[in-house]
Amino acid sequence: MDAQGIENARELLSRAGAVLVLTGAGISADSGLATFRGADGLWRNYRAQELATPEAFAEDPRLVWEWYGMRREAAASCEPNAAHLALARLAVERNGITIVTQNVDGLHTRAAEQVAAEHPTAAEGQIASTDGDTGARLPLELHGCLFRVRCTQCGERYGHREPIDSGSVATLPTCRSCSSMLRPDIVWFGEPLGEAIEIAFSMAQEADLCLVVGTSAVVQPAASIATVVRQAGGSIVEVNPEPTPLTSLAAVSLRGGAAEVVPSLVS
Ligand code: OAD
Repeated sequence: MDAQGIENARELLSRAGAVLVLTGAGISADSGLATFRGADGLWRNYRAQELATPEAFAEDPRLVWEWYGMRREAAASCEPNAAHLALARLAVERNGITIVTQNVDGLHTRAAEQVAAEHPTAAEGQIASTDGDTGARLPLELHGCLFRVRCTQCGERYGHREPIDSGSVATLPTCRSCSSMLRPDIVWFGEPLGEAIEIAFSMAQEADLCLVVGTSAVVQPAASIATVVRQAGGSIVEVNPEPTPLTSLAAVSLRGGAAEVVPSLVS
């Protein structure tokens, strides 16, 4: 590991008041989940246009639910790793830490729940729940969550963890209120990101540090969160085995896996 880089990053972290943590699929790679663009990435084996767009769902809801049901099962069978847990502990131990994720796997939430069980009072507010003032979910899940659904008719959203029976359209899950077809509460390509991104951008304006973990930083607008922090005078620390478009803007780039690097950075 890059000892000097870790030291520099720790120094930036200790001086920062407000810290925005931006994570992507790479943080969950160490829990065993596939990323999107790596050698075995999901977008190497599946076509986003056929699975992750409103048009795809309208065309073949069974196929789309089959894919999300499979991903839900994969995520449910994984555990938060040392990086998720270290970040959850950081958020409990220090004020001013906000976790913003592009991931839909729910692992930040599960890490927060585990840490909440260790610190029953301190963790309040950092567990995934609806924030009273903003309606935002903490951690901020920019692209939605595999374990939530949204009604295609009445729009109700709620947690849903049951296995998906995608054998036929008739067996797909239906709304608990109006019995219409449910869809995954995921932001698909071509859809707006909702208020979570607005909250993230307004926090980016105030952040002293953006800690970017495990994202290729090629999907907008999420990738711009780090750029906004930089433009507003804050610093970027990046954790990723590979360089990304943010590397040249980062004060420190730590090359390595999240589960190894992040705990040494934040503990
Ligand atoms: P990507 O698959 O694009 O990038 C994953 C990043 O994680 C890469 O930069 C890898 O180098 C890095 N990585 C791999 N293993 C790692 C490890 N052990 N520790 C740390 N980093 C590691 O995933 P995202 O950037 O999250 O959107 O992709 C962004 C969005 O594109 C996703 O949210 C998804 C996708 O299309 C939607 O589905 C809407």
